[in-house]
Order: sequence, then C-alpha cells, then structure tokens
Amino acid sequence: MIEVKALYHRYSKDSDFVLSDLNFTIKRGEFVFIVGPSGAGKSTLLKLFIREIVPSQGSISILGQDLVTMPQKKIPFLRRSIGMVFQDFRLLEDRTAFDNIAFVLRVTGASAGEINRRTSHVLDLVGLRHKAYARVCDLSGGEQQRIGLARAIANRPALIIADEPTGNLDPVTSLDIMSLLRQINLRGTTVVVATHDRDIVDRFQKRVIHLENGRITSDEQKGVYARAL
Ligand SMILES: Nc1ncnc2c1ncn2[C@@H]1O[C@H](COP(=O)(O)OP(=O)(O)OP(=O)(O)O)[C@@H](O)[C@H]1O
Ligand SMILES: [Mg+2]
Repeated sequence: MIEVKALYHRYSKDSDFVLSDLNFTIKRGEFVFIVGPSGAGKSTLLKLFIREIVPSQGSISILGQDLVTMPQKKIPFLRRSIGMVFQDFRLLEDRTAFDNIAFVLRVTGASAGEINRRTSHVLDLVGLRHKAYARVCDLSGGEQQRIGLARAIANRPALIIADEPTGNLDPVTSLDIMSLLRQINLRGTTVVVATHDRDIVDRFQKRVIHLENGRITSDEQKGVYARAL
C-alpha cells in the first residue's frame, strides 16, 4: 500500500534535511498514527504521500505506483484514489454539505443519480444526512470535520490520509471523529493519521510511528504516544 525506502527530504539544496533515512511499509487495511513534536516532519511526510512534493532522495510508492518517477499527468488520478482530511477542514464554506461532497464526485464524471446516491450514503455514515442542505459555514467545527470525512470517503478511496484531523476540535468531538476513522478502517480502508492527540493515540492501541527531527525513533504495533520518561 505504502512503501518508503531510504527516504530523505529537504526543502532546498542549502537547507537541512527535514526527513532522514525513513524506511517503512504500511500494508493494506492498517491504521497508523504518525506522531512527534512540532516540526518533526509529519506534514512533510503526508505531502510526499500525495505527491504534493517530490523527495530529495529515496523511493516512495503508494498503491503500487512509484511517486518519484510518476508523470505529472498521473497525479490527479493518484489524488482521486486517496481521501484527504485536513485540520482546517478545507470545505467550500458558502456551499451546502451536499455540494461539497457532490463536487468531488462530479470531477470523476459520475452520473447525477450516482452522485445523489453516494452523497446520501456517506452523509448517513457520518450521521449528517439531516444537514445535507445546510451551508457549511452554519455548521459546528465537529460537523464540518464530519463533512470533511464524508467527502474524503465519497470516492471509495483505498487510503485515507489525515493531517491533524482533530487539531481544532474539543476532546469529545475529537474522539467522535477518530472513531469514525476507525469505523472506516474496519470496512477495509487503510488510514494514516498525523496527530498530537495523545489521549486518542493511547486509547486506540494502533500502530504508532514516532518521528523526531525527521527520523523514526520508534515504530510499534499497539503503540502509545510516548513511553514514560
Ligand atoms: N514549505 C516549506 N519550506 C521550507 N521548510 C518547510 C516547509 N514546510 C515545512 N518546513 C520545515 O520542515 C520541518 C518539518 O515541518 P512539518 O510541517 O513537516 O512538521 P510537523 O511535524 O507537521 O509539525 P506540526 O506538528 O507543527 O504540524 C520544519 O522544520 C519546517 O519548518
Ligand atoms: Mg504538521
């Protein structure tokens, strides 16, 4: 699903490496937390996964595709096979919840009937069918992130990548969002979440990859956010 070998990244030739010698594999169906202090390189790693940036050295493949040699014209197809969830939701605020989801389906050329069916289905999954025609700006933060999740799964991606999906939410709402991600994972979707949310990481007992200064300091199944000092 994701294969990373001898991966290094720096943002310019005269700056330091922000990721160094990363080696790991994420298998289909896994749920993985990426944790570590601010500046450790979590978002950079996720940006590499969606080919927003190209690594300085090393190899990275996603869904069997080599991202280093991938031609520009294939990138939109890669992105369509990955569902992204962001800390700041990145929804179209003046549009309805329904429109936000329908939009990503329209891009793939789905028919109007299919768009209606899929949108209603994913709104059901996140428990927000009754808000389908509310404008996003009239929804709470937790509701907006549930719409963000619904949008991410609308195309039935094999992989969901979330960067601090609960960073702007209170603890109860955060647990709700992470539980939804876990349910999506139980249906077979691979989920990778960068987070600072110590309580959730410890509670979920999933694989935890710990980054520090751009290096992996631990990679454990049923891991915790940080070992006792
Ligand atoms: N576009 C960029 N240009 C130059 N340097 C960058 C850029 N984006 C990030 N960096 C640097 O790369 C390093 C890793 O940043 P990154 O955003 O990946 O960390 P992070 O682990 O996601 O941190 P946080 O927990 O604060 O989100 C930092 O030193 C940061 O300053
Ligand atoms: Mg980050």
